[in-house]
Amino acid sequence: MSIREIITVPDEILKKISDPIEKVGVNEKKLIDDLFETMYNSNGIGLAAVQVGILKRILVVDVSNKDEKKQPIALVNPVIRNLSSETSVYEEGCLSIPETFIEIERPKICEVDYIDKKGEKKILKCDGLLSTCVQHEINHLDGKLIIDHLSKLKKDFIIKKISKVKKNPDRIVV
Ligand code: NI
Repeated sequence: MSIREIITVPDEILKKISDPIEKVGVNEKKLIDDLFETMYNSNGIGLAAVQVGILKRILVVDVSNKDEKKQPIALVNPVIRNLSSETSVYEEGCLSIPETFIEIERPKICEVDYIDKKGEKKILKCDGLLSTCVQHEINHLDGKLIIDHLSKLKKDFIIKKISKVKKNPDRIVV
């Protein structure tokens, strides 16, 4: 396993649509392991392949608390079905958008069809935090970011601010 570099805005790759996987092969399994390691290393609860520069429909999530046993879930070719009309609101951050948190309202419950690391078809029932997290990550596979929920003015402001931070060599985001 290895930790990969996480791509941040305004990199254009983050706006691209990821391609479905035909078969979960050796490369995909290695990518899943690396995504988990990279996500845990950055204290994130979700990470999509596009965020490490690979346009494949693969994502990983783990919404367990720090003191709980880990609950890693890898989803290949995830497709959302059955979104609830009931919603929940979380202040969402994103590993690709440093130091930015945005309140977003999403369906509280959803079901996701996906293929697991072994190549088996599964259904994941998501509620609350897991539902928000999975929807956030699936948005990544479709090139959509949390800042897309904002007006263009606010979005440009955030991207400008992050670009400035990137130029400062003394400042790090870990
Ligand atoms: Ni994100």
